[in-house]
Amino acid sequence: MIKNTNQPSDQTDTSYAVQDRGRSDLGPRSLRLALPSPEATADLAQRIGAKLRPGDCLLLDGPIGAGKTHFARSLIQSLMDFPEDVPSPTFTLVQCYDVAAGELWHADLYRLSALEEIEELGLTEAFDDAICLVEWPDRLAELTPSHALHLALSLDPEEEEARLLTLTWSDAKWQRLVKTSCKSLL
Ligand SMILES: Nc1ncnc2c1ncn2[C@@H]1O[C@H](COP(=O)(O)OP(=O)(O)O)[C@@H](O)[C@H]1O
Ligand SMILES: [Mg+2]
Repeated sequence: MIKNTNQPSDQTDTSYAVQDRGRSDLGPRSLRLALPSPEATADLAQRIGAKLRPGDCLLLDGPIGAGKTHFARSLIQSLMDFPEDVPSPTFTLVQCYDVAAGELWHADLYRLSALEEIEELGLTEAFDDAICLVEWPDRLAELTPSHALHLALSLDPEEEEARLLTLTWSDAKWQRLVKTSCKSLL
C-alpha cells in the first residue's frame, strides 16, 4: 500500500534534528513509499543518485537487513563509469569513491565507538564537501547534518521482498529531487 504524506509534519519526531539554516522555513516534510522488490529499491537509489551534488547527505535508517547497504551500493554503482565492488563499510566505517559529481563517502556507523571518531574520520568536513551516504545515522547524535535527507527503511511483515521507505527532510532543496525521483512510485 502506498501512502503519500507529503505535507508539513507536525509530528514530534525528535530523532530528526531540525536546525533552520535560513534556507528552509518549511519545517520537516515527508513521503512514504512502498518498495516492492530489491530492484525497485535499486531503481529509486539510481534516480536519486543521479541528482546528488557535493554537500548532499543521505541518512539511511532502519534495522539490520532493511536494505540500507543495498540502497547505497545500487546508488554508488550507478555512478561508476566501470562497475566495481562496493563493500559494506561495516569495519572500515567509511569508504570513499570518486564519481563524476565529486567525492562520495559511504559510511556505516554501527561500530562507532565514540562521537569524536566522526571528526577524526573527516566526516564533518565531508558533510559540507562531498556526497555522503550514512548508515546507522543515529550514531551522529548532535553532529547530524541539518540539511540531510532522511530515508527510513523498514521491513514489510507481509512481503519478504518488500520494504517501506519514509523520506523526511526540512531543507527545501530536497523537495524537487524527491518529487521527480519518486513520482513513478506514487
Ligand atoms: N525491497 C527491497 N529493498 C532492499 N533490499 C531488499 C528488498 N527485498 C529484499 N531485499 C534484500 O534484503 C537485504 C538487505 O541487506 P542490506 O542492504 O545489507 O541491509 P542493511 O544494510 O540495512 O543491514 C539484501 O539481501 C536485499 O537483496
Ligand atoms: Mg548495511
